[in-house]
Amino acid sequence: MKSALSLVHEDGFAIVTVDLPGEPVNKVTAALRAEFGELFGQIERDSSVRGVILMSAKPDTWIAGADIDEFLAMTGSSDAEALSRGAQALLERLYLLRVPVVAAIHGACLGGGLEAALACHYRIATDHPKTVLALPEVQLGLIPGAGGTQRLPRLIGLQRALDMILTGRNIRAKKAYQMGLVDEIVHPAILRDVALDRARKLADGSLEPRRSPKGRGATGLLLEDNPLGRSIVFRKAREGVMSRTHGHYPAPLAALEAVKAGYDGGAELGYRMESRAFGELAPNDVTRELIFLFFATNALKKDPGIHGTAPEPQPIATLGVLGAGFMGAGIASIAVQQGTPVRLKDTDLARVGKGIAGVSEVLRERLKKKQITRLQYEDQLLLAGGTVEYTGFGRANLVIEAVFEDLALKQRVLREVEPLLHDDAIYASNTSTIPISQIAEAAARPNRVLGMHFFSPVHKMPLLEVIATGETDDDAIVTAVAYGKQLGKTVIVVNDAPGFYTTRILSAYMNEAGRLLDEGASIGALDAALTAFGFPVGPLTLLDEVGIDVGGKVGQVLHEAFGARMAPSDSLRRVVASGRTGRKGRKGFYLYDEQGKKGDVDPSVYEVLPGGVQRVEMPAQDMQTRCVLAMVNEAALCFDEGVLRSTVDGDVGAVFGIGFPPFRGGPFRYVDAQGAARVVDDLELLNERFPGRFAPAEVLQRNARRQERFYPTRGDPFA
Ligand code: NAI
Repeated sequence: MKSALSLVHEDGFAIVTVDLPGEPVNKVTAALRAEFGELFGQIERDSSVRGVILMSAKPDTWIAGADIDEFLAMTGSSDAEALSRGAQALLERLYLLRVPVVAAIHGACLGGGLEAALACHYRIATDHPKTVLALPEVQLGLIPGAGGTQRLPRLIGLQRALDMILTGRNIRAKKAYQMGLVDEIVHPAILRDVALDRARKLADGSLEPRRSPKGRGATGLLLEDNPLGRSIVFRKAREGVMSRTHGHYPAPLAALEAVKAGYDGGAELGYRMESRAFGELAPNDVTRELIFLFFATNALKKDPGIHGTAPEPQPIATLGVLGAGFMGAGIASIAVQQGTPVRLKDTDLARVGKGIAGVSEVLRERLKKKQITRLQYEDQLLLAGGTVEYTGFGRANLVIEAVFEDLALKQRVLREVEPLLHDDAIYASNTSTIPISQIAEAAARPNRVLGMHFFSPVHKMPLLEVIATGETDDDAIVTAVAYGKQLGKTVIVVNDAPGFYTTRILSAYMNEAGRLLDEGASIGALDAALTAFGFPVGPLTLLDEVGIDVGGKVGQVLHEAFGARMAPSDSLRRVVASGRTGRKGRKGFYLYDEQGKKGDVDPSVYEVLPGGVQRVEMPAQDMQTRCVLAMVNEAALCFDEGVLRSTVDGDVGAVFGIGFPPFRGGPFRYVDAQGAARVVDDLELLNERFPGRFAPAEVLQRNARRQERFYPTRGDPFA
């Protein structure tokens, strides 16, 4: 087999280059570990070697972390624990080599890759945007298992290390240097030479490896330097984790324990705790769901959006955006970041100006966070031009419409702009509910019309739902999908139907929440029940965020389309009629201050609701089951009706579009975890209580009857 490591000797220094054969990135495979083991032996034996430099031959990665397939192949805790012990031992050998090892880092240095760098004696990173360092294990439900929980705090201090380990966040080179994660940053062109020079100096003793957090002496004692201070740091970190995760994710808590064990009982105990926790977490259900989502989003990156042979996508030369409101400006802001010239059209100059200001705000935030330079900020802002007519739209090969949610208006603007466009230009509506085929009725070329449903705020939300009608051309779908990916989104393609997929399942859930209010549930208890289930916010907080008026309109469209099953609740109807709009109007289910900061439940809203101020206590579990099963059953109906192309799309769409708890994997994964028979039983019981609302979808009944699952294995759904 072709080797992943190559070695050249230069003047007594071994320059080791990692280049995993046949893979776009370097990852830590069993084969790579074995090769490293051999290499260390060779270096130990060869007394002519005075130092080692560790580099990568891949363009964008140094070492991007573990081989996740390996985790899925592991059958139990003991396998995983052994893997961690082995990796720890290997890196301890690296650390104890008799010669200095310099990590020369260019590109992504993640997970096991960063743990390897931590075991080196000196770290140099390139000051390139592709160079990022992180321990992202918690994002997959794991913890660093190759010594990361022990080495990182010793190198950069407890508080910074906990931040990295507990969030998995990416650290860019400059920040990594400031916090002492790397010893130097250099231009990529001189990385090798500088690394060689530093190895030489480390070997002859003119340079000493740093052994404690940078700057400690200069800044005086840190809180974490004494046991009392440390216990405060650990307590605060734990509180932070609990408030972020509501206790649903075991990995950050396990990581905290491993780090703490290293401080309280010494490194040996710390390493043992790390491996044990790694072993326990690997087969955990939460970990399996997070790994599923990781594989699912990766698979979507390769999916052109249609079955069969896909035509080539068109590059987007100019993007036209109709409506410079909240969504239009958001879409423009991510397009200019990709270098696409954007024409923003609205009805008057003031609105156009507001749209451009919206674009500038998003870019300024990036500038402030140093994600772009001032020059990039200026260049990108210049790409956004405004108009109150359609000037410049003739050049656009993609137009995204984001005017008010009104069918007649959407048809009118389509009629206005279509004659100005090339025959093969694509016209996308960002409607959240209106069937695309209805909008396309106004088109002379309905085959060029589709939906591109972004989520708000556009620059933060990861999902894009592309909606194809039966008439949409394949090349238009493929182009919308490719451009969505270029904009950094995870893209699912669904077939046209009212509410598509995400809005429809969210509405089913929201309606059930509304009905619980009709029956007397209190606002705080209902929201608390669903955050306890794992949603990031409760349904009524979400409605305040989205806009109660918007929720009302969506409810109406879906009611018309699906009849009584989707009838909006009395509560929602009344709150809409009362004129409350939610956070944007500073009046909703909750109280808001002038700045829009959310406070307690607004008691006066109960005066509008059926039952008035007298509320009924309801079991949290009943509220959860009703809202969640309404959503899950609706997702299954979308599958039955062919709205969804796959359950993977359904799971990814629910998690990344509307906040279905990631640790539950998505609605279809949830059914598998509960067992279809149990879900169908629960639905039937609910359907007896509330006739017609919970009739189980065909596919659920079938899975229950045949004892089948949506996903044959608990791990990799694509295996
Ligand atoms: P918005 O009210 O902020 O913006 C709509 C803009 O369209 C306004 O600036 C308005 O002046 C402009 N407009 C009206 N008539 C026009 C015309 N003839 N030509 C050009 N511009 C015109 O609304 P928002 O929130 O940006 O929503 C836009 C669309 O995006 C709607 O279809 C909505 O359903 C959809 N959407 C909204 C989401 C949200 O959370 N706000 C999420 C996903 C989709």
